[in-house]
Amino acid sequence: MKNTLINLFYYWVGIGFLLLSKIKYFIHGYSTPKPFDISEFQRAVEYDIRVVDRWIAMLQEYVGDDRISALNNKSILELGPGSDLGVGLYLLSKSIKEYVAIDVNNLVQNVPEKFYNIFFAYLKEKDHLLGISFLKEQLNKTNNGNNDKLDYICRKDFDIESALGSRKIDIVFSQAAFEHFDDINVTIKAVSAVTKPGAIIIALVDLKTHSRWIRDKDPNNIYRYSGWIYRLISTRGTPNRVRPYQYKQALEKNGWENAIIAPITTLENVKFNSIKKHLNRKFIEDKNQMNYLGVWLCATKT
Ligand SMILES: C[S@@+](CC[C@H](N)C(=O)[O-])C[C@H]1O[C@@H](n2cnc3c(N)ncnc32)[C@H](O)[C@@H]1O
Repeated sequence: MKNTLINLFYYWVGIGFLLLSKIKYFIHGYSTPKPFDISEFQRAVEYDIRVVDRWIAMLQEYVGDDRISALNNKSILELGPGSDLGVGLYLLSKSIKEYVAIDVNNLVQNVPEKFYNIFFAYLKEKDHLLGISFLKEQLNKTNNGNNDKLDYICRKDFDIESALGSRKIDIVFSQAAFEHFDDINVTIKAVSAVTKPGAIIIALVDLKTHSRWIRDKDPNNIYRYSGWIYRLISTRGTPNRVRPYQYKQALEKNGWENAIIAPITTLENVKFNSIKKHLNRKFIEDKNQMNYLGVWLCATKT
């Protein structure tokens, strides 16, 4: 009885949170993609560095070779870069050939100069391969619309093929963005068209509820609702509820092999058992791996 009441409580609280975020979206548009504001400069810089370092570590683990760390001369595509160009700049400091990022929300246009000053100071301290002046020059070019090696593309249609033209990509990275895409089958098909044979995709997908307070208390909250209710309380960018096996299927269908899904965080058994039967029936079958709260997707293009 107590468990039923708790689940009922989370059902309605979750609806409340999603409705609030829908109203916020209509008033302010897409808001800060991180759990903190870019004005927390040091934290934002460290976040970007950590994201890239984790991608590289995952890439090395996936290919079983730590020599790949150089990323030398690789063309890199990032899907859904978020609030700033720190990730792209840090990758450029590792002698990559070029960095292209695509998003539907232009979140980087109002980044305070102070963020990049702190970012460059941080990189300088770490003594990276390329001079800071090269990175500053690339950032200036991008900010003035003359993209060179640091290309940021914002398109509401998220048309990756048109955005990239004839450019071909070696590595695709993405962090906590796939779960926001309108249609992951369309995105993966487009990514497949712009990647070279042998290209690798490394993407972290956050499968949890995104509403701030509830994501820790009831991480699977968004999976409680039927399709029509969820559509009603969603807006563009609300988590799409795509499960790991569906990503794997989409990758394999579009010519990717050695696709692996590696869990990053999982829900402990006691908690999982207490909510399992309160999830919408669409998510009940074992193939949904509902105890996975975050995963790595890795695959190789044939
Ligand atoms: C949670 S943020 C993650 C951003 C960044 N990778 C990070 O880790 O801070 C999600 C990203 O997905 C983008 N996004 C949201 N809805 C999208 C959509 N429907 N299609 C494509 N990108 C979307 C956002 O603009 C944002 O860049």
